[in-house]
Amino acid sequence: MTAARGTLLVVDDEQKIRRMLGQALRAEGHEVIEAASGREAQRVLGERSVDVLICDNLMPDMTGLDIIRELAAALPGAERPQILMMTAHATVESAIEAMKLGALDYLQKPFEVDELLVVVRRALDHQRLRSHQRYLLNERDEEFNHYGIVGRSRVMQDLIRKAELVGETKSTVLITGETGTGKELVARAIHARSAQREMPLIKVNCAAIPETLLESELFGHVRGAFTGAITSKKGKFALADGSTIFLDEIGTLTPVLQSKLLRVLQEREFEPLGSERSQQVDVRVIAATNRDLRQMVKDGTFQEDLFYRLNVIPIEIPPLRNRREDIPILVEHFVRKHQQRTGKRIERIEDGVVATLSTYEWPGNVRELENTIERAVVLSTDGAIGAASISVLGVAAQSSNALPSLKLRTNIEWIEQETIKRALESAHGVKKDAADLMGISQRALSYYLAKYKFQ
Ligand SMILES: Nc1ncnc2c1ncn2[C@@H]1O[C@H](COP(=O)(O)OP(=O)(O)OP(=O)(O)O)[C@@H](O)[C@H]1O
Ligand SMILES: [Mg+2]
Repeated sequence: MTAARGTLLVVDDEQKIRRMLGQALRAEGHEVIEAASGREAQRVLGERSVDVLICDNLMPDMTGLDIIRELAAALPGAERPQILMMTAHATVESAIEAMKLGALDYLQKPFEVDELLVVVRRALDHQRLRSHQRYLLNERDEEFNHYGIVGRSRVMQDLIRKAELVGETKSTVLITGETGTGKELVARAIHARSAQREMPLIKVNCAAIPETLLESELFGHVRGAFTGAITSKKGKFALADGSTIFLDEIGTLTPVLQSKLLRVLQEREFEPLGSERSQQVDVRVIAATNRDLRQMVKDGTFQEDLFYRLNVIPIEIPPLRNRREDIPILVEHFVRKHQQRTGKRIERIEDGVVATLSTYEWPGNVRELENTIERAVVLSTDGAIGAASISVLGVAAQSSNALPSLKLRTNIEWIEQETIKRALESAHGVKKDAADLMGISQRALSYYLAKYKFQ
């Protein structure tokens, strides 16, 4: 192994010593910066990153211990250099004090150059290890991030494991969970694990397509099947042959379509609209809903047979408020994601922000959390996410019930419009649901709709 080379800062008020140490260390291939006083050392440390600080203790303007103390206050442990103290009169106390403050080692003057080189080499090894550790910590974060599903709570870890196992099979999966809990994300993760992952996942949002068109969307039609069917069209099931079909919002299917879907699941065949000929299909079905299908079966609005055909492998995603330990890593994940997307640099999240986010109820679940973080990243002007930037809409409105603050006028109107637009989209245009998603009253929503002349 080649010896590590590093950037070293030598601080001593005696020029003779600085020169001697500098020479010896440069001869080893290190980059050496010299400082003649504590103040000068602080200036250097403020300007650039240093691997090892080699520091005399007794100097006219400040002691080595002072420098170490201030360094500890200014920089988090992972970003601090390794510290080596030099003491002329090895008072055990100052050496111990230095080690307590985080110095790695000390050298008693006068010392041999060889002794210095050994200690510096050890310090650089430590520093290297520290950056490896940081890398490993990042890797550990990745570990909680499978196919984009971030979660460290027990339920989410179990769910991720289940999704991985299920991915390898062709069994039908039913994903349930409130709006914004990540149902589509989990469906994509399952497909990404499957043998069909090279093929596209074919998605149908059953709630977004009018009933009259949905049948043709799913099964296709032949020419002349209905007025306006001037050509024949392949349906999504045919497109998904050999791959996976994701049937989103399955709870909105009409009885007729429920029966047709049941038939595909049972017989693996269907007829396009207006055709007599059935078509075979080999497709993996993943369905999702935010409705309680069991209750719908009881109420007679969802076919029992279809429910059991879909519910082969049930995956239930709990609401975010029931797994609050996921909130901090989700916040980190979304800050990272949106700073990349916006090209902004967020250096810190102010104290209390994560705590506030962790206590909120999140009726819109992870989607609402993501929107909140995205807004905060966009709004941030000082590289920080502060309490003000998360209290624009939603989070604060819940506790105060007041109309959102309009202090940050420059970006705020755009943010508000964007938020409302997305909430309406997520709620499929249902205003009450959109208001719930944002955690504001319907009255407040009406105010915004009028303000921005939506519709
Ligand atoms: N565990 C998670 N880790 C990372 N991102 C997540 C997680 N859960 C949800 N998200 C993100 O939140 C957003 C909403 O997720 P998704 O669309 O999958 O929710 P959904 O349950 O399908 O919601 P809806 O019922 O409203 O359709 C997406 O941007 C998704 O990437
Ligand atoms: Mg969805």
